[in-house]
Amino acid sequence: MFRAGLVGCALLLAAASGAKAVEKAESPAGRGAYLVNTIMACGSCHTPRDGDGKPIAGKALSGGFTFNTPAFVATASNITPDKETGIGSWSDAEIKRALVEGSRPNHGRLAGVQLAAIMPANFYKALLPDDLDAVIAYLRSVTPIRSEVRDPVYKVPVRRDPYPDADAGFSKAMLANPVGRGAYLVTIGHCMECHSAWSRGVSDFKAGLGRGGRAFPLREGSPDAGPASIAANITSHPTSGIGGWTDAEIIRAITQGIGRDGRTLKPPMAYGYYAAVSAADLAAIVAYLRTVPP
Ligand code: HEC
Ligand code: HEC
Repeated sequence: MFRAGLVGCALLLAAASGAKAVEKAESPAGRGAYLVNTIMACGSCHTPRDGDGKPIAGKALSGGFTFNTPAFVATASNITPDKETGIGSWSDAEIKRALVEGSRPNHGRLAGVQLAAIMPANFYKALLPDDLDAVIAYLRSVTPIRSEVRDPVYKVPVRRDPYPDADAGFSKAMLANPVGRGAYLVTIGHCMECHSAWSRGVSDFKAGLGRGGRAFPLREGSPDAGPASIAANITSHPTSGIGGWTDAEIIRAITQGIGRDGRTLKPPMAYGYYAAVSAADLAAIVAYLRTVPP
């Protein structure tokens, strides 16, 4: 996926400058485009890629990776507004429930069946009402694409680990402060899902917040060849974490996938999407990460 990030970078940057221009005008769909295509990186799961790992032009959000885990085999759905194979026949309330509760509507394909836990609803429940509306407005505005994804197979009941900041919730007032804004962005970017201590399928978002160590094997159907990558410690610890890094080094790792020592960071982190996060939002993310206990 990292290769994809590099190759897709120019495209994403072009898309991002467009998104930022709209964001200034504060239209809901513009704000939604910014969230979906940068910090929330929906396409890193929901957009199909070609053999080189490049997002396929004209196929954005039409169904992506198949995740093959001990708990489920699930393919990221077609979330374009196509009526039959996408979410075009879902109401706003139904799309919202999928995002923040991880549930499907009571009609159509797989009616009423919970979505696999890989769809990060336990983080998205933190979305402020305006941002949730913005994401929906943007999803409604993308080109409908006909594309059927294969049905999921569930092996155990769905379980999402509660994320304390998402459960506590955010308010607009909290976002006025950089640390609060950073906490919000790190929540809706589900950064800590990968970066926290993880054992036998259970995340420790309290004592193990940001501690790293979780290994990511290859994804089925993914062109990301090579050995598994291990999520880094991104707490404020001065040596094991990023406490000793400069702000610029942290931002370069997030947006360009370059480690402190200059090495190329591995997937599955969505560097190519984060490349278009605004400078103010990146500064807020860094401000929050500096407060994560070592
Ligand atoms: C880490 C990967 C991942 C990310 C990131 C992700 N999704 Fe998903 N999403 C999935 C998978 C996989 C499914 C299908 C789960 C299943 O079939 O049980 C899914 C299902 C959905 C569904 C239900 C659609 C249907 O027909 O079943 C919606 C709506 C959705 N995602 C929207 C989004 C949006 C919007 C974003 C970004 C804000 C997003 N997703 C980010 C993996 C992801
Ligand atoms: C899908 C899993 C995943 C998500 C989501 C994710 N990361 Fe990462 N991240 C990784 C992995 C794996 C690495 C290590 C890659 C390597 O070592 O080659 C990494 C590396 C990093 C690094 C470099 C640290 C170091 O010591 O090299 C930083 C900083 C970082 N991530 C911050 C973030 C932030 C902030 C977010 C949210 C905006 C985020 N990550 C989201 C998996 C993820």
